[in-house]
Amino acid sequence: MTLIRELDTGTPIRVADTTVTLTIDGQSVTVPKGTSIMAAAASMGTQVPKLCATDSLEPFGSCRLCIVQIEGRRGYPASCTTPAEEGLVVHTENSAIAKRRRGVMELYISDHPLNCLTCSANGDCELQDMAGKVGLREVRYGYDGANHLAAPTDESNPYFTFEASKCIACSRCVRACEETQGTFALTMEGRGFASKISAGGTDFMGSECVSCGACVQACPTATLNEKSVIALGTPEHSVVTTCAYCGVGCSFKAEMKGETVVRMVPYKDGKANAGHSCVKGRFAFGYATHKDRKTKPMIRAAITDPWQEVSWEEAIAHAASEFKRIQAQYGRDSVGGITSSRCTNEETFLVQKLIRGAFGNNNVDTCARVCHSPTGYGLSATLGTSAGTQDFASVDHSDMILVIGANPTDGHPVFASRMKRRLRAGAKLIVADPRRIDLVRSPHIEAQHHLPLLPGTNVALLNAMAHVVVTEGLIAEDYVRERCDLAEFENWARFIALEKNSPEASEALTGVPAAEVRSAARLFATGGNAAIYYGLGVTEHSQGTTTVMAMANLSMATGNIGKLGAGVNPLRGQNNVQGACDMGSFPHELTGYRHISDDAAREMFESFWGVPISADPGLRIPNMLDDAVEGTFKALYIQGEDIAQSDPDTQHVTAGLQAMECIVVQDLFLNETAKYAHVFLPGSSFLEKDGTFTNAERRINRVRKVMSPLGGLADWEATAALSNALGFPMNYSHPGEIMDEIASLTPSFAGVSYAKLDAEGSLQWPCNETAPLGTPMMHVDRFVRGKGRFMLTEFVPTEERTGALFPLILTTGRILSQYNVGAQTRRTENSRWHEEDVLEIHPFDAESRGVQDGDLVALESRSGDIALRARVSERMQPGVVYTTFHHAKTGANVITTDFSDWATNCPEYKVTAVQVRRTNRPSEWQARFFDEDVSLTRIAAPLDAAE
Ligand code: SF4
Ligand code: SF4
Ligand code: SF4
Ligand code: FES
Repeated sequence: MTLIRELDTGTPIRVADTTVTLTIDGQSVTVPKGTSIMAAAASMGTQVPKLCATDSLEPFGSCRLCIVQIEGRRGYPASCTTPAEEGLVVHTENSAIAKRRRGVMELYISDHPLNCLTCSANGDCELQDMAGKVGLREVRYGYDGANHLAAPTDESNPYFTFEASKCIACSRCVRACEETQGTFALTMEGRGFASKISAGGTDFMGSECVSCGACVQACPTATLNEKSVIALGTPEHSVVTTCAYCGVGCSFKAEMKGETVVRMVPYKDGKANAGHSCVKGRFAFGYATHKDRKTKPMIRAAITDPWQEVSWEEAIAHAASEFKRIQAQYGRDSVGGITSSRCTNEETFLVQKLIRGAFGNNNVDTCARVCHSPTGYGLSATLGTSAGTQDFASVDHSDMILVIGANPTDGHPVFASRMKRRLRAGAKLIVADPRRIDLVRSPHIEAQHHLPLLPGTNVALLNAMAHVVVTEGLIAEDYVRERCDLAEFENWARFIALEKNSPEASEALTGVPAAEVRSAARLFATGGNAAIYYGLGVTEHSQGTTTVMAMANLSMATGNIGKLGAGVNPLRGQNNVQGACDMGSFPHELTGYRHISDDAAREMFESFWGVPISADPGLRIPNMLDDAVEGTFKALYIQGEDIAQSDPDTQHVTAGLQAMECIVVQDLFLNETAKYAHVFLPGSSFLEKDGTFTNAERRINRVRKVMSPLGGLADWEATAALSNALGFPMNYSHPGEIMDEIASLTPSFAGVSYAKLDAEGSLQWPCNETAPLGTPMMHVDRFVRGKGRFMLTEFVPTEERTGALFPLILTTGRILSQYNVGAQTRRTENSRWHEEDVLEIHPFDAESRGVQDGDLVALESRSGDIALRARVSERMQPGVVYTTFHHAKTGANVITTDFSDWATNCPEYKVTAVQVRRTNRPSEWQARFFDEDVSLTRIAAPLDAAE
C-alpha cells in the first residue's frame, strides 16, 4: 500500500460549454474555456512549479514561481492567472524561465529555517519539492538581515500548530478559510516584508476559527501542520474511507503508519465533500483507540452485578441461550432488536435479518425512528420515495434556498460551506428557525428573511407560505398540470386558500409577522430554482410528517422538484441513517422500503433465507419499551445505539430497560444503555471494518478497514456468530458478499457491488438496470410514484402546552464540535469547545428570573428536571430556550416528553414546556446518575488475575 497523492492542477479545471486548444511545450492540448495555462499544462501531465496556487482555490498570482513564456507576448506571465486561449503557444521551461524561478526560490529560502531533515513535513512540503524542482543549489543571501525566523508558534489549537517562522505568505490558508470553508477567520496583515497571517489579532483558539482544517490542508509548508504528524511522523500509506459522523458522508484518506492513524485527510475525489472536511471527521478520530474502549465481551446475571469478562464464544452462547429461553417462556414476539445508524449497511442488514430470520418476528427498529422517520413517510406519500431528491452539488444551481429546522453550519458543516459559497455568489436565503442561527448573518451572507417561528408551528408557517402562492397566482401551472394528480392538487389548493391558512391568521400561532411571510413566499415562488433544506427541527415534532408533506406540496406547487438547484432535501443526521432505513430496519418494511405485508417481496426473502417471515409489522422502539414496562417484552439486542441517552423521556426508557430479562449491547463503550445490559459485545469502529455508508444524497460510499478490530471481531462478524448460535446460519467471508445479497434482494440496489463502488468511487441509489451508474437526482421527468400527490396539511397544535407552571418552550439541537450523544467526540479534544451542555436563554427571560450568564439553573418540565449552566443569548427569542444533549450527565432527555409524530412515533424533542430558575445543586436525577455511573458499570477482576 502506498500514500495516495491526488493530482493538483494548481487552479480549477473550469466547466464550460466551449473549449480552447493551445500548444504547451510543443504539445497540443484542449481544455474548457476559462481554464488557466497552469491547469491546462497539468491536464497533459506537465506540472508547472508553483507555491501560491492549489486547485481547490481561485488563482492568486503572488509567488511568481509559475511564470511561463507565451510566443508573441512580452514578459513572463504567471501561468496560474493567465487563461488558456485558442492558438497560444506556451513554453513552461527554458533557461531564462529557470533562472528567474531560482531567483524567486532563493528569496523564499533565505527567510526560511533550513532544518528540513528534522522538520515534521520533511518529504511532504511543497517548498522543499519546488526548491528541488527549480534546481536551487545555493542561497546567496544569509540570515544576517531582517527575517522571520524568530516568529512565534501558535499551539493553541488542539489539533494543529501555526509555526510562523516557516510561513511564506502565500495566502493559501487565508483563501482556504474564505473560499473553501467560508469562515473568514484569517487575514494577511501588513504588506511586503511585514506581511503576516493573523487569526483576527488573537490565537487560533480564540479566533472565529472552527478548526475545519482547510487552511492546514492548503498550506504548502509545515507552517500549519497537524500535531499528530509532528508527534508520529509522516504517514506511510493511506486508504480511502468514509467519515463516521454525520450524513454528509465525507470521503477521507486515512493516512497511516502501520495500524496507527496519523491523520485523516479529506479526499479530493470524494463526491460528497470534494476535499473539504469539518473538525469532527478531520481531527476527532482519537476515540477509536481511547482507553475507554471495551474490547472484551462481558456478561452478568443482574445489572447490579459487576461485569465478568468472558470469551466471545461464551458471550455469544450465553446471549443465544437467553434469547431462546425467553422466547420459549414468553413467546416469539417477546424479543427484538435495534439496528444502528452508526454501523454499515451490511451490519444493519444482518441485524434485521437476524431478527426476522432467527427471532422470527419483525421487532426491529432503528434510531431513524427518533430523527428522520417522518421524512420517509412524508416524501414517500407525496413523491413516492423515502429519500432526498438531489445530490449536494445541486445547490450550486440554486437561486433561492429555504433552510427550515436545520442548522447546517453546526450539523452538516461541509455541506454548509458549499451552500454558503452559493449564497456568496448571489443565491437568496430564507431561514425559518426559532433561533437566530449563524446562517442568518455570517461573513458576506445575510438571509433575505429570517422567520423566527415558535417551536411547533412549522406546518402553520408552510401552509401560510403556500396560501400566498395559491392565492396570489404563483402556482407553476404547467408543471402541476403535467406532473401532479390534478384532483388532489385542486383539493389541496381549496384547503390551503382557506382564510385560516393565511399569513395573517397564522401570525398568532407562529409569531412571524404576516408581511414577512408573504414576502418570503413570493421570493420562494418567483426567485428561480428554489431548494428546501431541512433537518430535525422539521421532523422531531408531533406534526413532523405533516411538515415534510407541506414542504413537498410547496415545492411541487412552484415546480421545484426534478430539476437542478431545487428539491426537498433532508439533511440526514447520522452517518448511515439513510442506509439504516434503506436496509429494512423498520418493523413494517423490508429492504428498499417494501412493506412487510407485500407477499411477493416477503417471498423473495423467504426463499433466499429459507425461513418464513411474519407478514405482521413488529414493534417500534417506543412500543418495545411500553411493552417491557407492561411485562410482555423481555429481551433486546442493541447494536451501536444508546437509547438511554438519546431517546426522549429518560425515566420511561430506563424503566423499560430495567424491566427486561436480557439486554445485549454491542458498542465501543459501556454507554448509558449498557448500564441496564446483561451481555456486552465489543463493537468495532469504522476504522476496523469494511462496508458501506449511505449519505443524505443516497450516495453509497465505501468504508475500508485500516486496522484490526480491537475487540477481535467486526460488528457484522459478531451478529453472524449470534445468528449461527441461534440456529439461523450466516456464513460470509467478507462484507462484499453481504452487499451482493442486498443487491439481489433489493431492486434499488440491484446494480451495486463492491467492484462497481471501487471503480466509480460511489453510487447513488437507485442503481439498477435502468440507472447502472446510479441516480443523482430523483423525479426528473416523472415522480417515482407516478403523479405527484398533494397532501392536506391541517395544522394541529402539539398537545404539549405552555402555562403558568411551564411558561417557556425548550427546543434542542446540536453544535459543531460534539456529535449526538457525544460518545465519540467527548473522548477527543473536541470537548475543548464544548465541555458541557448549556441552556441558551434570551436576556429578557433571564433577567425576569434573576439569571445571569454562567449561573446554574434548574430546567423543569412535566417529565423531570435537570440543572445546567445558563448562557444568556440574543440568538434566542423571548419565551424559547435551547440546549444540546451531547453529555450524558446533563440528562437533556430527562425533561423531554413522550409526545410523538402522529404517523411515525418520531419523538417531539423540539417542543417541551419548561420553567427555568436559579439553583445551586444538581437535580435528583443527576445525583442518581453519578451514583449509577459507579454502581452499574463495575467490571470484576479477570478470574486469572484473582487466582
Ligand atoms: S481551520 Fe478552517 S476555520 Fe480555522 S482558520 Fe483554518 S480554514 Fe479557517
Ligand atoms: S500559513 Fe501556510 S498557507 Fe498560510 S500563508 Fe503561510 S505558508 Fe501560506
Ligand atoms: S461534515 Fe459530517 S461527514 Fe463531513 S467530516 Fe464533518 S462530520 Fe464527517
Ligand atoms: S503559483 Fe502562480 S503566482 Fe504563485
